[in-house]
Amino acid sequence: MISSDLTLRLARLAEATTIANLSRDLIEDGLRWRWTPMRVAASIRAPNVNVLVACIHDNIVGFAIMRYGDDDAHLDLLAVAPPYRRAGLGRQLLQWLEKCAVVAGTFNVTLEVRAGNEGAQLFYKCMGYRALAHLPGYYQGIEAAIRMGRDLSCPSGRKLRSVI
Ligand SMILES: CC(C)(COP(=O)(O)OP(=O)(O)OC[C@H]1O[C@@H](n2cnc3c(N)ncnc32)[C@H](O)[C@@H]1OP(=O)(O)O)[C@@H](O)C(=O)NCCC(=O)NCCS
Repeated sequence: MISSDLTLRLARLAEATTIANLSRDLIEDGLRWRWTPMRVAASIRAPNVNVLVACIHDNIVGFAIMRYGDDDAHLDLLAVAPPYRRAGLGRQLLQWLEKCAVVAGTFNVTLEVRAGNEGAQLFYKCMGYRALAHLPGYYQGIEAAIRMGRDLSCPSGRKLRSVI
């Protein structure tokens, strides 16, 4: 069972390559690999970034990276390995990072998702996020992005105005 064996914790530097490989395979498919081990390692070291991993029996089965600014937090990446999807893991990863934002007094969270990734857009909608903008060519000129956002001070994220 996922729930009894699952641990959420901050990533270790030695896990940067595993996380980068998951990003390449699950998120950046068809694009130039931008979240290389070096970039993930820099995020793990950064004081304003949380790199969170979901582990089952010491295996990383999901991860998420959130960057905290003064006024906004930005979800850089989130993925769950296919065999573990639709079991609430994505929700747990995102809520963990959102709680940190709230504790820091940062209530606006934004993210970009590939326009063709309808499953992830439905997931974010389910998590209270709204589409804010359509960004043509955002991903290396190959694919558009949908920018989505949520105001964490409002349970349904209603305050952020949709423009698309
Ligand atoms: C998007 C993603 C992280 C969701 O992770 P997950 O662990 O499967 O999500 P959860 O189980 O927590 O889903 C919570 C709810 O979101 C909705 N949801 C999640 N995935 C969905 C999908 N593919 N289609 C429709 N709704 C979906 C459902 O309402 C779900 O609740 P339910 O299963 O009880 O119906 C996962 O599908 C994934 O890793 N995708 C590939 C990488 C990616 O696209 N990342 C996001 C862009 S960076």
